[in-house]
Amino acid sequence: MTDPIRYEDLDLVNTKKMFQKAMEGKFAVPAYNFNNMEQLQAIVTGCAESDSPVILQVSGSARQYADPTMMPHMVKGAVAMVRKAGSKIPIALHLDHGNSFELAKDCIDSGFSSVMIDGSHLSFEENVRLTKEVVDYAHTMGVTVEGELGVLAGVEDEVSSETSHYTRPEEVQAFVEKTGADSLAISIGTSHGAHKFKLKPGEQPPSLRFDILEEIEQRLPGYPIVLHGASSVSPEHVAMINQYGGNLESAVGIPADQLRRAAKSAVCKINIDSDGRLAMTAVIRKVFSESPAEFDPRKYLGPARDELISLIKDKNKNVLGSAGKM
Ligand code: G3H
Ligand code: 13P
Ligand code: ZN
Repeated sequence: MTDPIRYEDLDLVNTKKMFQKAMEGKFAVPAYNFNNMEQLQAIVTGCAESDSPVILQVSGSARQYADPTMMPHMVKGAVAMVRKAGSKIPIALHLDHGNSFELAKDCIDSGFSSVMIDGSHLSFEENVRLTKEVVDYAHTMGVTVEGELGVLAGVEDEVSSETSHYTRPEEVQAFVEKTGADSLAISIGTSHGAHKFKLKPGEQPPSLRFDILEEIEQRLPGYPIVLHGASSVSPEHVAMINQYGGNLESAVGIPADQLRRAAKSAVCKINIDSDGRLAMTAVIRKVFSESPAEFDPRKYLGPARDELISLIKDKNKNVLGSAGKM
């Protein structure tokens, strides 16, 4: 047994104050997923350069990929890097889509300042029981907890559902009261991955269900809401991927203006993973295609990291509204 690592010792914060400020300031805190050093560097650099609070987000499988023992040390290094450059932005480390009490506890005991417990596929009662179990432990350690009601469509490594069902506003109050969760992820039409809608040629993505969001806000005044599956899927990155040998036909995401509208509401956290993956893949494909003799990882991961920094700065400023809000 190794000694627990406290998030305070990694210069991290939980999401409590971040969400209060986001609610008051009518913006959303970005939660960017990462798996490796270049993504982590890009996220903290992009957010430090835009003076934005940030949630570093790690799924269970991403944590396994990077190595659970290495993870807190990577994050400590990334925080130290931006502090050395003079940035004081608040930084949280968050478990994305935690699927068991054991995983959530392991993260809490190894430096995470926030965890999601995703019981959205369970019955209401089972979801409440699992979420409360995590909240009861997390709160003794000062760690904040995100729960989820409603199911998003979309497929990723550990998150998969053929169809969505929207969050039922009549359930949210009881869920929050019974579990003590600090924030709630809801389903209002976003979905995971790069293929969020099946559109006919010329068709626009359907609007998010702002009516459901508004009803939830009325039932939970001042309570932080979270949007998953909120990548916009840049047509430029998709075109680059296809131009340089990829095959991502019909990829489509959530229009930025809808996310901007959501960020001005009780939505205090917006999750973005696919957009970062697409940005890096597009640049790496371009380098490989234009310089087939290149085999130094710095020559393709470096430009990919730069592209991710630009994407993050643009999102913080123009979509989340979090730039300058540290
Ligand atoms: O919503 C899930 C995240 O995008 C991470 O997925 O399990 O492929 O790391 P992952
Ligand atoms: P995207 O696939 O839209 O980036 O969603 C990411 C997410 O919700 C992570 O939990
Ligand atoms: Zn998600």
